[in-house]
Amino acid sequence: MPPVLFSPFTLRKLTLANRIVVSPMCQYSAVDGRAVDWHMVHWGQLLQSNAGMFTIEATAVSAIGRITYGCLGLYDDACEAALGERLAVARSIAPPIPVAIQLAHAGRKGSSQVPWEGGQLIPIDQGGWRPVAPSAIAQLEHEALPAPLDLAGIAQIKREFVAATERAARLGIDAMELHMAHGYLLHEFLSPLSNQRSDAYGGSFDNRVRFPMEVFAAVRDAWPQDKPLGVRVSATDWVEGGWTLEESIELARRLQAAGCDWIDTSSGGVSPKQKIPLGPGYQVHLARAIRKATSMPTMAVGLITDAAQAEAIVAAHDADLVAMARALLWDPHWPWHAAATLGAQVQVPKPYWRSAPREAGDVLAYAKIGMR
Ligand SMILES: Cc1cc2nc3c(=O)[nH]c(=O)nc-3n(C[C@H](O)[C@H](O)[C@H](O)COP(=O)(O)O)c2cc1C
Repeated sequence: MPPVLFSPFTLRKLTLANRIVVSPMCQYSAVDGRAVDWHMVHWGQLLQSNAGMFTIEATAVSAIGRITYGCLGLYDDACEAALGERLAVARSIAPPIPVAIQLAHAGRKGSSQVPWEGGQLIPIDQGGWRPVAPSAIAQLEHEALPAPLDLAGIAQIKREFVAATERAARLGIDAMELHMAHGYLLHEFLSPLSNQRSDAYGGSFDNRVRFPMEVFAAVRDAWPQDKPLGVRVSATDWVEGGWTLEESIELARRLQAAGCDWIDTSSGGVSPKQKIPLGPGYQVHLARAIRKATSMPTMAVGLITDAAQAEAIVAAHDADLVAMARALLWDPHWPWHAAATLGAQVQVPKPYWRSAPREAGDVLAYAKIGMR
């Protein structure tokens, strides 16, 4: 039997050659939201991974929607031009792999220091900005409070998501994911831990999902109909009294009815009180539960590092796609090696056609070499 991991998967008009997705990964290397040469090399490298789809990192819809001052943005013409130019080069040196982008707003996690400088909130008097949030509740107890959004602020952020979507469409990006996970703005609206509003955007489940659903609908309208749009959720907060898997399932049902093409199933990030049972594939059961309840395509993510493990996840229908982050940074050719292990083939750039060791067999599709 050929491995399922290397079988194609179709989302609207887009067909992925295999089930491996490069998970979005912040590079904290942008300047004023603009991509730089680092992104070009990083994207080019991962586009050569032969994954089924590559996802550009969390990309902010406004300057204050960035997590750090090094986060990528798509909120003005300079951001659009910088991203477009670097992406064009990266794509020109790699096999034609679909490119997705994750659109995000950091909410109260905005104005953070980059991780290699400690990752903490940068106060305004040290060059930071005042982050916004559904409610004036800080991520960490000792921190200054974020500014609670009023209705005009909420409407403005929805417009920013739409504007960034239009920019992504102009850049020829193939798929889009909305970031509703990891304690960033849209997740902050979902979770009762961070959303204690008393208006139509807080309180009941219907009210807490209202803004994320409004953003989804506005983006779906602005994004070309033939291009897929997915959502990353934190399927549970891992905190008593927080957002639950049952709520994620109901949200997924509503998103599906609104035209969502996949749920990328992550978890946590909204509270320092979370207790995450870390281990190989620790979030796969969440993807399985959402897929089972909704029949919606899901991506599993989190400590998936091994070819047989990834194959087992898709073969068991726990998820349709497997997103991977750290293992692909560690080994950007992971899909090549997985294909060799599982007896499949990958397409790699011609200058690398001589790379495969003897034991990898005919893993490189079309490879033929002649010399005199
Ligand atoms: C360097 C780095 C940057 C990340 N940036 C993002 C991001 O931009 N958006 C996001 O949703 N998750 C982000 N994540 C989380 C990953 O996408 C992934 O969900 C997580 O690392 C678990 O998968 P893994 O075990 O394969 O690394 C990041 C992870 C890493 C290691």
